[in-house]
This record gives sequence, structure tokens and C-alpha cells, in this order.
Amino acid sequence: MKTYICEICGDAYLGEGKPTSCPFCGARQAFIKEGKDAKPVVEVKEDLSELTKKNLQETLQLEIEANAIYLCMAGKTDSYEVMKMYKRLAKVELEHAVICTKILQIPMPEVKPELCSDAVLENFQKTLELEDHAATLYGQFAKEAIERHVKIMFTALNQVELDHITLIKNYLA
Ligand SMILES: [Fe+2]
Ligand SMILES: [Fe+2]
Repeated sequence: MKTYICEICGDAYLGEGKPTSCPFCGARQAFIKEGKDAKPVVEVKEDLSELTKKNLQETLQLEIEANAIYLCMAGKTDSYEVMKMYKRLAKVELEHAVICTKILQIPMPEVKPELCSDAVLENFQKTLELEDHAATLYGQFAKEAIERHVKIMFTALNQVELDHITLIKNYLA
């Protein structure tokens, strides 16, 4: 067994090989490094441009809301699998929020409960909308970032949200 470290969230994964994506933040395998080689973006303490600070704040808000919405959705299904899937999604989005607070070097804001539909299909559709919005936004933020570590972070998050779209579409197929 070896120690692998995610270059995005900085969490360690202990296993026989790299997972296909980070179990904590969802970053794809390319961002997971052998422990000795890892330089996670959350460890970079640099001054940030005003635009980057604004984009990270917007991301932080979106991720906190997504966490609360997905926890609501987890409670609206009779399927054990779908309930567990939404609980994991909620944790992944909360991890994204934590990444933002670490790069911004600010405390975690309070997470307030959010509402969601009682209908599972509506919740899947809403999830697709949220993930599509986030993916588009993070693609744009990656382009706008002048700081290398922030560009890497938004590139990774853009891919994670695209992977979430694939995940939900599999339930709708
Ligand atoms: Fe990660
Ligand atoms: Fe996210």
C-alpha cells in the first residue's frame, strides 16, 4: 500500500494504486500524485488578484449552496443508492468550498439549509442545471486566473462538475 496525495484538495489516499478520481474532491487521476511528488494547490500562500478573489468567493457560495441542496435531495428519494449518491455529492461540493477557503485564507462560512423538490426527477434536472452552470463558470474562471495554482484548481473543478453531469445522466438514461 502507498500514500497518494490529491494536488487539488491535498487529501491523502492510501491504496495499492491511484484511484480514477479523488474520493474527496473528485479531481481526476491526473491530479493525484505519489506522496513525495505532491504540491497541492491548497498549500500555495500567494497574494491573489481582485478578480480571482471575486471568482473564488462566487465559487465558495455556489458550492455551499450545492452542498445544502444535495443534502435536501438525499432525503427525497426512496432509493438507497440515490440517497447515498447525493450524500457523497454533497461532501464533494463541501470539499470544493473548503478548497476555496484555503486558497482565500478565510474561515468557512456558515452553511444554511436549502430547499429542493419532493420529486426525484425534478431534483435530477435541477442537479444537471446546477452542475452545468458550475462547469461553465469554472471553465471561464480557469481562463481568467492569472495565478497558476488557481488556474489548475478551476481546471480540475470544471472537470469534476462535468463528471457529475455524466453521473446524473446515467440515472436518466
Ligand atoms: Fe482531491
Ligand atoms: Fe463543486
